[in-house]
Amino acid sequence: MAKQEITIKKPFDSHVHLRRGATLRAVTKYTAERFGRGIIMPNTEPPIDTVEQAAEYKKEILSAVSGHSNILQNVGMSVEQKFEPLMTFYLTKKLSPKDIGKGASGDVCKIYAVKSYPYGATTNSQWGYRNILEAKEVLREMENVGMPLLLHGEVHLNDNNVEEDPYDGEKIFIKEVLPRLLDEYPKLKVSLEHMSTSEAVDFIEKNGKEGRLVATVTPTHLMYDRRQAFSGGYRTLLHMKPLIKKMEDREHVREIVKKGLPFVSAGTDSAPHPESKKFSSCCAFGVFNSPVALELYTQVFDELGCLDKLEGFLSENGPRFFGLKPAEDTITLVKEDWQVTEPIVTDEGVKIWSLCDKQHGLGNEVIHWRLASSL
Ligand code: NCD
Ligand code: ZN
Repeated sequence: MAKQEITIKKPFDSHVHLRRGATLRAVTKYTAERFGRGIIMPNTEPPIDTVEQAAEYKKEILSAVSGHSNILQNVGMSVEQKFEPLMTFYLTKKLSPKDIGKGASGDVCKIYAVKSYPYGATTNSQWGYRNILEAKEVLREMENVGMPLLLHGEVHLNDNNVEEDPYDGEKIFIKEVLPRLLDEYPKLKVSLEHMSTSEAVDFIEKNGKEGRLVATVTPTHLMYDRRQAFSGGYRTLLHMKPLIKKMEDREHVREIVKKGLPFVSAGTDSAPHPESKKFSSCCAFGVFNSPVALELYTQVFDELGCLDKLEGFLSENGPRFFGLKPAEDTITLVKEDWQVTEPIVTDEGVKIWSLCDKQHGLGNEVIHWRLASSL
């Protein structure tokens, strides 16, 4: 019997961290093999908050892609046609309305969105505002020029500067911050990133609207809940922000993707960290999943019996929010079991462990779908 397979327009990653230097050179190919374009997260060190920095960062990404000749087998295709990094600004205290104008014009480097990190909540969030509502002038200008705001939607520090319970951060944000933001900026395009709770899902289901309020979903929040995160001990490779939540939350996240809503799309939040930072007394937040993300999304949609919704989620809804057309080229996935058996090693000899790794994952995670081209 012929193997089951699925061909879809080349996916769009609405949320990916590629880092810089040796890590970037090691991880970028996994994204570029699977996704035609990616919204590149700006929480590098230093953060990206000028068009000049964004232009330089984009160049670094493209040169890493061109370094992997297997991705450029198609003669006549430029690096940018194979994988196009779509650059973003970090909403630092330095970012001004003038920067927004420059980014929107695209003269030096086109900026597709601004990402907000709540101060102290996650990796490299030390340059963010405590509360997004404080960034009034920048938000007003974004609303004027139509530049989307990407939200790390968690309250980390409350109005009295006291830390909230990290399991409640998203819930509090949905209840107390997001409605006010939408109210105060009625034309702002907003994306709630990496939904992890029932509250976020319910809010988006009720209020989501193409071109106004959208949301992204990671493979990690679709696949796992706290039972796996604490299975036999705390699972380092599942440690991320927002934290992996309860069974009901995961069920809600699964239910919303099953509905095939036009304002819900894939954002992997692939976030590589060197082994030394992941396996340390203070484990870094971030799940590196680009070698398996597309495969896991497909697996979950297959389990849910909604493979017909996969292309919208992976390849159409994301670009539409950013005013872009879906990709013209396609990708094929085949139903076949495989496992991740090796870490990725940078050219500086540093190991980076992927989600589902046989040794450091849950133990024996078999992935049921794989990229046809990697067979
Ligand atoms: C991200 C990272 O490592 O940059 N980590 C994470 O846990 N998701 C930052 C982020 O998106 O929160
Ligand atoms: Zn992220």
